[in-house]
Amino acid sequence: MASLYVNNCVFLLLCLCLAFSTIAYGGDFNTDFDILFGDKRANIEDGGMSMTLAMDKYSGSGIASKNEYLFGRFDMQIKLVPENSAGTVTAYYLSSLGPNHDEVDLEFLGNLSGDPYILSTNLYANGNGGHEVQFYLWFDPTQDFHTYSIDWNPQRIIILVDDIPIRVMHNRQSIGVAFPTRQPMKLYTTLWNGDSWATRGGQVKIDWSKAPFIASFRNFNANACIPLPNSSNCLDFNSGKNKGLNAEKRKKLKEIHAKWVVYDYCRDFRRYARGLPYECRKNNRLLAIEDEY
Ligand SMILES: *[C@@H]1O[C@H](CO)[C@@H](O)[C@H](O)[C@H]1NC(C)=O
Ligand SMILES: *[C@@H]1O[C@H](CO)[C@@H](O)[C@H](O)[C@H]1NC(C)=O
Repeated sequence: MASLYVNNCVFLLLCLCLAFSTIAYGGDFNTDFDILFGDKRANIEDGGMSMTLAMDKYSGSGIASKNEYLFGRFDMQIKLVPENSAGTVTAYYLSSLGPNHDEVDLEFLGNLSGDPYILSTNLYANGNGGHEVQFYLWFDPTQDFHTYSIDWNPQRIIILVDDIPIRVMHNRQSIGVAFPTRQPMKLYTTLWNGDSWATRGGQVKIDWSKAPFIASFRNFNANACIPLPNSSNCLDFNSGKNKGLNAEKRKKLKEIHAKWVVYDYCRDFRRYARGLPYECRKNNRLLAIEDEY
């Protein structure tokens, strides 16, 4: 009797811990983030509900989540630096700490007034990057807030814009392609000077007479797993939405790829003159697109 009681208690405690390690936020910039650099240039407003990042000629700015997450869906509404934003880079990304790091990147490369931003996405797995796919957007990202999401689970990472999938990266560890599943990551947003490379390959420099440059953020939302020490509690985490794409979403993804891709490392035959990376080769790539997501 007594021992049954103890067992139940242990079981209950375990369940509570597991439940608490998965957290859904209606995010608050005050409680969930620390200033990473730029001091007051990162300006949290509305009691934590919104935030702006500024860059002047002395510094950019950025914030980092207090928590490290292992899998989850992260939504952020962003309104990018308006008008002449050439040379500025606004970044929204997940990154682990330490060597051989993992990272999932969304970098918004600014442009001259009226010229299109580029959304540059990338993945680092076990320290290896070089998986860039870049897009033009089908709207002006400086006029309104739009929702940018990273949905990361052990099977795949999906990047979404206004809930439209623009990129799916599958876990192909079974065939030797590195994929982030071990290292917890923090969530970052930053604004910085990338004018050595960002706009037309670095040809257009920042016009500092237009400073400060300001990007706005709101409605941060995380439905994510926070790993317990030495625990595999997150390994079966799923945000609930990332079950893969249905036929309609697959069609959307293909349309986006047909119309809006500026650069795709998987089609860069000059860079990979000796052969495309494994996951890019025709059969594997077709598999990736036609796959039962
Ligand atoms: C900026 O505009 C030019 C001209 O339309 C375009 O070639 C380029 O891709 C745009 N974006 C960036 C980030 O350079
Ligand atoms: C966690 O694992 C590390 C190395 O595997 C070990 O050194 C440490 O003592 C463990 N901590 C706990 C709380 O079990």
